[in-house]
Amino acid sequence: MTEEIEVSDFVMMNDITEQSMMELLKKRFENDKIYTLIRDVVVSVNPYKKLDIYSEKYIDRYRGKNIYELPPHIYSVADTAFLNLRDLGQDQCIIISGESGAGKTEASKLIMEYIAAVSGDSLEVDKVKSKLLESNPVLEAFGNAKTTRNDNSSRFGKYMDLQFDFLGNPIGGMITTYLLEKSRVVNPAKDERTFHIFYHLLGGADKALLDKLHLTSNFTDYEYLKKSNCSTVPGLNDKTQFDAILNALDCIGFKQDQKDTLFKCISAILHVGNIKYKKNENNDENVIIENPEVCKTIAELLDVKCEDLMNALTYRTVIDKNKSSNQKNIKVPLNLAKALSCQDTLAKTLYEKLFSWLVNVINENIFHTKDDGSHRSVIGVLDIYGFEIFQVNGFEQFTINYCNEKLQQLFIELTLKSEQEEYNNEGIQWENIDFFNNQIICDLIESKTNSIIALLNEECIRPGEKSDMTFLNKLNSSIIKNPHYDSREKTRNIKEIDINMFKIKHYAGDVVYTVDGFIEKNNDLLYNDISFVLNSSKNPHLPIMFPQNLENISLKSPETISTQFKNSMNQLIKNLTAKNPHYIRCIKPNNDKKSGVFDDELCLHQCRYLGLLENIRVRRAGYCFRKEFSKFVERFKLICEDTWPNWKGDPQEGVRRILKEANIQEEDYCFGKTKVFIKKPQIVFQLENIRNEQENKIATIIRANWLAYIYKKKYQKEINSIIGIQSMIRSKFEAQKYKKTIENIVKIQKYCRGFLIRKHMKREYLKLPKYCCRMIIKQWKGYKVRKMLNDMCECSKKASNWTSVQWPDEKYANDKNLKEPYEIFKQVYKRINAKKYRKSLTPDRKDYLEWKCTAMNTFSGKAGWKESATTQYEDDGLKIADTQSAKWKKICSDGSKIIQSFECTKFHRKNLKKEVPRKFVITENDLYLVDNSLGLKDKLPYSSINEIGCSTKKDGCIIFHTSNSKGDLMIRTDKNCIEVVSKICITSKNKGKEIKVNVSDSQNFNNTKKTIPIEFTNSDKPKLVVTGNNNKLIINVPN
Ligand SMILES: Nc1ncnc2c1ncn2[C@@H]1O[C@H](COP(=O)(O)OP(=O)(O)OP(=O)(O)O)[C@@H](O)[C@H]1O
Ligand SMILES: [Mg+2]
Repeated sequence: MTEEIEVSDFVMMNDITEQSMMELLKKRFENDKIYTLIRDVVVSVNPYKKLDIYSEKYIDRYRGKNIYELPPHIYSVADTAFLNLRDLGQDQCIIISGESGAGKTEASKLIMEYIAAVSGDSLEVDKVKSKLLESNPVLEAFGNAKTTRNDNSSRFGKYMDLQFDFLGNPIGGMITTYLLEKSRVVNPAKDERTFHIFYHLLGGADKALLDKLHLTSNFTDYEYLKKSNCSTVPGLNDKTQFDAILNALDCIGFKQDQKDTLFKCISAILHVGNIKYKKNENNDENVIIENPEVCKTIAELLDVKCEDLMNALTYRTVIDKNKSSNQKNIKVPLNLAKALSCQDTLAKTLYEKLFSWLVNVINENIFHTKDDGSHRSVIGVLDIYGFEIFQVNGFEQFTINYCNEKLQQLFIELTLKSEQEEYNNEGIQWENIDFFNNQIICDLIESKTNSIIALLNEECIRPGEKSDMTFLNKLNSSIIKNPHYDSREKTRNIKEIDINMFKIKHYAGDVVYTVDGFIEKNNDLLYNDISFVLNSSKNPHLPIMFPQNLENISLKSPETISTQFKNSMNQLIKNLTAKNPHYIRCIKPNNDKKSGVFDDELCLHQCRYLGLLENIRVRRAGYCFRKEFSKFVERFKLICEDTWPNWKGDPQEGVRRILKEANIQEEDYCFGKTKVFIKKPQIVFQLENIRNEQENKIATIIRANWLAYIYKKKYQKEINSIIGIQSMIRSKFEAQKYKKTIENIVKIQKYCRGFLIRKHMKREYLKLPKYCCRMIIKQWKGYKVRKMLNDMCECSKKASNWTSVQWPDEKYANDKNLKEPYEIFKQVYKRINAKKYRKSLTPDRKDYLEWKCTAMNTFSGKAGWKESATTQYEDDGLKIADTQSAKWKKICSDGSKIIQSFECTKFHRKNLKKEVPRKFVITENDLYLVDNSLGLKDKLPYSSINEIGCSTKKDGCIIFHTSNSKGDLMIRTDKNCIEVVSKICITSKNKGKEIKVNVSDSQNFNNTKKTIPIEFTNSDKPKLVVTGNNNKLIINVPN
């Protein structure tokens, strides 16, 4: 058995019978091998459990591998489609079919995930991929519901085009949806749920959002949810789902107002279900709304006027064509039945329009519209509702099953019918294999005349009284003979078919439909008044959902729902036929959603109606590959030397040579009229492999040639560059050489010219008069002096002050011509600056400096003169003037200003060794000697002083040689006698008398009687000591 289950392609079975097919399918299923092939068609059995075959590891394993290289997998189909698209640029489509709960939606998601994983991964591409992938949870939330057969049943058909660029990177997508089962909104069957989003919102939204939407988290608060008595799905957490949806909406690009609109509409629908009517007591025919506050909430959520909404739910506007134009519209009150229908219509239609709008917004965000040429091809994935049979089957099941008939027909066309036709047309020996062609059922439903849709439409638009029963009568009278149609009237089958029912023998089984609601659902009339109210909403998205206005609705009869659906189906089939198809046939193993249970009967039934056995037979007997001769040559020409690079001969001969070169045996292929047919897929892979090898070889040759060309070009470029550099260097050398030659020529020219001019000048010079020569000399000297002056200016600028200028003596001091002006300039510079300096002096400063000068000139040999130069003036030290003494005023009767006063001792004239204390006062006019009580002791006018004598030592003695009758005066003071004497001399000079100062250690003192010599000597004693006598006085000055 192990060997048996390893048979992964039904075509490889030993005997092709229904029994062996089912056995193999069951065995494989029981061993978790849920995928089996019929050549390139994948048959998938829902395992109802998580299998470890969808990890990244598996994606990597299947990437770029041939469908027969690895065990069958959905990834192989996705990979083949993706490679065909990327490498051949062909549009692809993957058609997933099967009953409800067979695993179509899961398969479509696996395909999208696989393609996302193997295609490009740039930032931009990743963004597109996440948008495409995130569209799944959003659409599932709004379009899927829990049914008794499937907890996540798709209640709409979905076809999604994935758009790719030239490199195979996804660049966008486009979703088309088919007929949403909107009746579920108001009428979910028992134990089923309405669409997931209602429960996700109530169970997942936070308190703030629920409050904003006037909702509670209690499902039983809402009539529409209460009905089915089922609010939870095992294993499905509404809160987690709601968060995931919010994330997905953000990722896709929904704006806040768009998200708000979604949830407001969902909330409004729930509230619509809670509207209650009661009879109007005044008018039996009329109803009024019992709970207007609910309408107020709905109006607020939908941003419409509450009054208008309530009117639209209780009245209907009809057009009275008999009256004049201004009285055209009449308001007719609704009875209870009509009002209830109106209420449900509002909820259903609002949900349906919201769903279409949601899909449009997703498409706006994912569709690649840029006309930049980047878009190349698409992979379409079709996941449409599966064939279904309920206890009660209505209009929805009719359309869903019709859709499945169409898809089965497409499958038959592509795999069974056309294939066999092709063998016959091509003249290939072929024994026809019978299969059930469901075209007859398609015709019964959709053909232009005498079909169920045609008759339904006729009934809908026909004037006069019409009902679902009149429609059934019409069917009975028109198509009763059709072998696939049955009704009570036809077979009197009381047990199975009720009076209001008809039966269609579908390819997948017999389904009894009840006609109730067919007419209304086919017309799908939303009362004009409701449409008008929603169109008037201030929420800008609602008028987009309800674009029609009253006028349009009234005048136009819109296409019926069945016509719209038929058209969209035909469009879909056209679309799929234009693409390269891949099939995934899903099988549901049991009705209980249980893992590991294989219900033989159920599976056999599905395999039968899917036509799998016929499919296997055709594939087994037939050829897996066919191609027109010329196209085959074009693809494989590189295998054979004769056909490469171009084959100009007969295409069939070309094919023959290629196959011979590839060593393919004659029994493995066959020639038709225009095509070559190959039996085993292995042969095709063998050819593809040889082609790949050859391609690599050729690519290597092309690469080598290309590289040679590139390197040659590069070499050429380098050579050109070298030549360029060489010529540049050479030209530079030449230019330098030329420049040097020119310079030399100019030099020679200069010498020659100089020589000639000098010669000429010599001649001319002799002719020059003498004054010219002088002029030249003067100019020359002038030039020299100016140059010197410039140099001196430069030196003076460099100096920090004018007394420290470093004159360029070395240059000019010894130049016999310039020495004199040089010295003059120096003097002038000094004088100018000295003048400037003097001018800047204050009078006090001037006096001070004058005293310093005098002191310097007079006492340059005396000890302490340097210190005295820095000491300050001292004025009336004894403050005699300040005392305002009358005695002093009397002494100094002329009131002259006291210049200085100080304490001193006076040497006694008769005995010089004796000293008496006195005060010495220098005024502007005289010198005074006074005692302690300011008694005048001596007065020396300046005019009487002839000379002043001082020693060179620091003894403080001053000898005034006078023409006084008393003789000379000698005093000693602690004051700085240099300062005292200088002041006396300056004051006296100002009075016109210049006093000589004799600085010497040998002085004389004249006391009118005799002249006594005074010697000043240095002594070791600490104090000044006066020795000697009146013959010779010795003053010993301490060192
Ligand atoms: N390959 C799989 N592996 C594991 N579980 C699967 C697989 N395919 C399907 N199922 C299970 O089966 C359930 C039904 O599958 P899915 O929704 O794809 O069915 P469907 O064919 O789309 O049905 P419907 O026509 O009602 O939409 C999934 O929710 C999942 O639990
Ligand atoms: Mg589904």
